[in-house]
Amino acid sequence: MKTARQILKQAVVKKVAIGHFNIADLAGLQAIVAVVKELGVPAFIGTSEGEAKFLDRKAIVAYVKTLREEYKLPIFLNSDHTHSFEEVKKAVAAGYDAILFDGGTLPLEENIRQTRKVVRYVKSKNKNIIVEGELGNIGSGSTIRKELPKGAAINLADLTKPEEALKFVKATGVDMLAPAVGNIHGMFANAPEPALNIRRIKEIKDAVKIPLVLHGGSGNTDSDFSAAINAGINMIHISTELRLAWRKGMDKSLAENPDEIAPYKLFPASIDGVGKIVKQRLQLFNKLL
Ligand code: G3H
Ligand code: ZN
Repeated sequence: MKTARQILKQAVVKKVAIGHFNIADLAGLQAIVAVVKELGVPAFIGTSEGEAKFLDRKAIVAYVKTLREEYKLPIFLNSDHTHSFEEVKKAVAAGYDAILFDGGTLPLEENIRQTRKVVRYVKSKNKNIIVEGELGNIGSGSTIRKELPKGAAINLADLTKPEEALKFVKATGVDMLAPAVGNIHGMFANAPEPALNIRRIKEIKDAVKIPLVLHGGSGNTDSDFSAAINAGINMIHISTELRLAWRKGMDKSLAENPDEIAPYKLFPASIDGVGKIVKQRLQLFNKLL
């Protein structure tokens, strides 16, 4: 069984991106696990602070670890968008495989100071845990949007700059970097997302030479994803599209089975909807299409 770090290295060598999917319940987890079993490619499973609180950090670590070991699956758990040192400590203690410390909206020097502290702490506890840093504002919240998130970097002048990215990576020692390259969290219901700045991804990758993570994957086009991967993205986060599929599946289940009260009989439509998206994304990200 490969470790999370080996899986990341393998993605870099193969020039593919690992799919990262957020979950809030066992329906989401089951959907991901079924696709990983079918395709035989790795996946990272993410819990935001809210999702982690709902699931319980120790419990979800044990659940993912059990599935990984029982079925020999390359699935790993990431503490996604962890905003405080206290939450980082909880994620380490619970046994997460990876942690994103999100200082993306902080001024550069403060982001460096806090992220460096996190990297030192995590490495002192467990060198195998992958630490990701965030540089730039891509807005927060995996929601359906009517307008761009406040403060999100969309204009060229606001995107993550290669020289700042290099300074950040050198000063903090992060294993992976999440930049702002035209990506936003959430997606529009009936409008295309802003295009990714592929050139900027390449410039940042050439400067930092560590794996780059693309957040806010929901709503982006397949061609933008492929170009981003070729430019140096090695992990892509998807959440909003999964939440929407979960909700649509549940609506359908409830409408078709108005008298059903057994949760495990209502969830399959959600699992199916989430699974379809996970499969399509994993095929694209791993260049299997
Ligand atoms: O960390 C989570 C992701 O960046 C998800 O973004 O909801 O736009 O897919 P998304
Ligand atoms: Zn994100």
